[in-house]
Amino acid sequence: EKGGYPHFMLKEINEQGAVMRQTLTGRTEGNVVDLSNELSWTSDWARSIKKVHLVACGTSYYAASVAERVMGLFTDLDVRVDIASEYRYRSIPIGEDTLAIFVSQSGETLDTLAAERFAKEKGARCLAITNNGLSSIAREVDDVLLLKAGPEIGVAATKTFTGQMAVLYLMALYLAKLRESLAKDEETRLVKEMTCLPYKIEGLLENSGPIKSMAEKYSLARDFLFLGRGFSFPIALEGALKLKEISYIHAEAYAAGEMKHGPIALLDRAVPVVVVMPDDELWEKTLSNVQETKARKSPVIAVTTVGRESSLKDVEDILTVPSTEPELSPFLTVIPLQMFAYYVALARGTEIDQPRNLAKSVTVE
Ligand code: F6R
Repeated sequence: EKGGYPHFMLKEINEQGAVMRQTLTGRTEGNVVDLSNELSWTSDWARSIKKVHLVACGTSYYAASVAERVMGLFTDLDVRVDIASEYRYRSIPIGEDTLAIFVSQSGETLDTLAAERFAKEKGARCLAITNNGLSSIAREVDDVLLLKAGPEIGVAATKTFTGQMAVLYLMALYLAKLRESLAKDEETRLVKEMTCLPYKIEGLLENSGPIKSMAEKYSLARDFLFLGRGFSFPIALEGALKLKEISYIHAEAYAAGEMKHGPIALLDRAVPVVVVMPDDELWEKTLSNVQETKARKSPVIAVTTVGRESSLKDVEDILTVPSTEPELSPFLTVIPLQMFAYYVALARGTEIDQPRNLAKSVTVE
């Protein structure tokens, strides 16, 4: 069942290329996104809406946070993302002009289900993005998009996170297409590159040796900071969550630009800082945060695009990812962070597949 791997988590990390391929199959023929077999949306309806609410918990919330940024790029809709346990208690307008998207791997998270009932009651059209088409959330919504990730046994979500992001990107592209808000060649550029991602992910996974030894070196740290900007901010949050869940090391993530507003006070030699900085328009800005961090003597682990190493000469450790379209970097930058968390936990001897105090699906509030 573990397919020769010592843990389900490592098996599931390694399945991510295949999951990505499976997610795209039948939905991206000829580099065109088509979800008309799965969604009941019409162009008239798509043009009638004004708002998109993305709602989820935990890792699914971070996938939704990446999607929030993507939808802002592809459409002129008013997009917001919320934690499910907060969404219900806000007084924000929700109505027939609202598409409410519930992202839940299990489809059974009680807070997400309750948020869905709340939005439905107010007249929103509800979409579930889930790995379980028979789940409670899937049964209650107007439309469902499935992840096609296969069962995930490790409590820490890995392949379903990349699966969720992939489905959310396709959904965002499809909605933009129905609304005619994205140029055809933009769609082609992104879909073409999405079909290359499985190969890039598999290439990254084959090269886990350096990550393992780096993880061993840092495995006794008590605190970690994770930083990122733009698309990389939710990835920093996800990297920190993976590390704390399975290694029990305290890890916090911040938008890199927030560092000066408080967390910089934490920095010293004992606090390693993981900086997620793929090659995009925010690279230089994040580089200045690396310099500030170095000035406080914190060891820096940079996750960056291959080719950028020469500008990071004073950095202790560099993990590179292949180059891709800037909007798609989250699919690659998250992989070394998952492996890093895994190998740190392995070095510390924790229960990787079944961390203390955690359940795979949270059916209480
Ligand atoms: C983290 C993790 C949790 C879940 C969260 C939501 O590794 O697995 O944070 O992401 O409990 O679960 P779903 O997606 O099933 O609603």
